[in-house]
Amino acid sequence: MDKKFKRTTVTAALPYANGGVHIGHLAGVYVPADIYVRYLRLKKEDVVFIGGSDEHGVPITIRAKKEGITPQDVCDRYHKIIKDSFKEFGISFDIYSRTTSKIHNKFASDFFKKLYDDGKLIEKETEQYYDEEAHQFLADRYIMGECPHCHNPHAYGDQCEKCGSDLSPMELINPHSTISGSKPVIKKTKNWYLPLNEYQDWLKKWILEGHKEWRPNVYGQCKSWLDMDLQPRAMTRDLDWGIPVPVPGADGKVLYVWFDAPIGYISNTVELCEKEPEKFGNWEKWWKDPETRLVHFIGKDNIVFHCLIFPVMLKAHGGYILPDNVPANEFLNLENDKISTSRNWAVWLDEYLRDFPGKQDVLRYVLTANAPETKDNNFTWKDFQERNNSELVAIYGNFVNRALQLTKKYWGGVVPACGELQDVDRKAIEEFKDVKAQMENYLDNFKFREAQKEAMNLARIGNKYITECEPWKVWKTDPKRVETILNISLQLVANLAIAFEPFLPFSSEKLRKMINMEQFDWTELGRTDLLEAGHQLAEPQLLFEKIEDDVIDAQLKKLADTKKANELANYKPQPVKATVPFEDFEKLDIRVGHIKECKKVKKSKKLLQFLIDDGTGEDRTILSGIAAYYEPEQLVGKDVLFVANFAPRKMMGIESQGMILSAVDADGSLHVTSTLDKVKPGSIVG
Ligand code: 2FM
Ligand code: ZN
Repeated sequence: MDKKFKRTTVTAALPYANGGVHIGHLAGVYVPADIYVRYLRLKKEDVVFIGGSDEHGVPITIRAKKEGITPQDVCDRYHKIIKDSFKEFGISFDIYSRTTSKIHNKFASDFFKKLYDDGKLIEKETEQYYDEEAHQFLADRYIMGECPHCHNPHAYGDQCEKCGSDLSPMELINPHSTISGSKPVIKKTKNWYLPLNEYQDWLKKWILEGHKEWRPNVYGQCKSWLDMDLQPRAMTRDLDWGIPVPVPGADGKVLYVWFDAPIGYISNTVELCEKEPEKFGNWEKWWKDPETRLVHFIGKDNIVFHCLIFPVMLKAHGGYILPDNVPANEFLNLENDKISTSRNWAVWLDEYLRDFPGKQDVLRYVLTANAPETKDNNFTWKDFQERNNSELVAIYGNFVNRALQLTKKYWGGVVPACGELQDVDRKAIEEFKDVKAQMENYLDNFKFREAQKEAMNLARIGNKYITECEPWKVWKTDPKRVETILNISLQLVANLAIAFEPFLPFSSEKLRKMINMEQFDWTELGRTDLLEAGHQLAEPQLLFEKIEDDVIDAQLKKLADTKKANELANYKPQPVKATVPFEDFEKLDIRVGHIKECKKVKKSKKLLQFLIDDGTGEDRTILSGIAAYYEPEQLVGKDVLFVANFAPRKMMGIESQGMILSAVDADGSLHVTSTLDKVKPGSIVG
């Protein structure tokens, strides 16, 4: 750690308690934060890791309304689900609390009051939409109307989901309240604002000059905000869910959720220090001592709040330290599509655990290997399988297993002594002695993907070493030499347990048990005397297991089903075409045909070729573009409806004499039509 710091306060964004957590959350915020904290703890540094649920804000009230329960019920349900998921995945918070706690309410309220008393807030009257039937001001999300840009009639007061425009409620055409359905009126209301504009120069100096080391994505986003004129931002809202504004004339108003949530980091630290004073001491040392380093782990959508607004709040209040770094991640996509809660396009942690019990580390590994550290990244189930099978199993697990099984076979599971070194030994030792410095360099700079690669590299070195040394051959001629090979291999295994500890804590624990060792210390990484000669190892077990294709296929099917369900849910029937007179309809000759043969058409992915019994005694050939939806043999023997007097057309050199009728489903897939009952081929449809 930087010499000027004595300890580190690490925070991870407080997730909204209106849904569970998915792989995007884990990859973006919680796994990197946890790796960092575990690394600092392994180095015996003084660190506190703060988390909790963000339980205020409009989305929670919307969910409650939809389900006919209270916002507190919503929070209680999801706080528990989220907290349990984090625990299962080994996210090692020192405290995971919530913003509906008493301590937080008082702390956030006092924080606001001090800003108010010190004259740091400005009072402003603005015009807002008000629902006269529901007797309340309307948050942007509670107003819907027509988008002024694309004329989507279902745009929200803050955004049109169809064309993606950011909106303000006043821009909507024909707005209505989603609470009562009535037309809202415009009413004046008073709120308290943080004058960000007054801090613009200070922010520029502090970030643009003082924190050039921040990740380019974070620095860049700050810069683009700071290149514009910052505006005062309302820190209170007209809403009935949240922390009441503790000043006169503020009835029916609450603190803005983005005001109280980051204060949750502090109030949760207060709660922790009250609970465990011997271990953590006084909360103020974690937030007010300039020798404390503050690091916020967040996703990129939270940058402005953590780099501009919260620091201004802290500065205006006075007495607090500011973040030293904000290693924000970009987003993780799922199978090339944006993760979305409303479309259920996500891998939820509780579902993952049900489908892959005991495989938390596999997901941690894959998410770190693919971490969206510098750009948006993609999670695919095939990559998940590949990384498990050809990295965790084939490299890490394989090396550990080889080393332990060979020791068991040749030395009864006891660590043999290291004899005289040969070149091959020196080379292997040379290769891994720098791993500590390299990993530290990456970890200190929040480059977790690279750091994890280094750890995996150790296992690669180990595999190569065993393969080169061929102890199973040497055993026959020089058993003494095998002692040295095994000793070095086992030292590497012990190193792996340390190196992977921040990333794969469950596997490291399992491995430690196998080599019968208590907790290691980070400083020991790179050493070749971690296991003493004569030390008895425990029974070897497999660290990881292969994931088969059918398991992955089941996950892919689940996603395909979700996609289909979304398409059906969004399906809007085509408008009915202009009316036609009966005579026009009569011109069409639709009949029932019996499929006698069906085959693929050479060089065509779309077409199937049918031989149809049309009742005339002369079979006819029809081509149809449904090859993507049916195997030919599924259709042979079936009756279908077809247009018999369709002008013949040539496709791929074959003449098609008619057209088979198919229904187009919501997702565009084609489904051949038939009759409910068996009728004679050639029967007229009309
Ligand atoms: O974006 C979110 O999910 C917010 N609930 C994060 C809040 S972070 C902090 F300020 F508490
Ligand atoms: Zn629009």
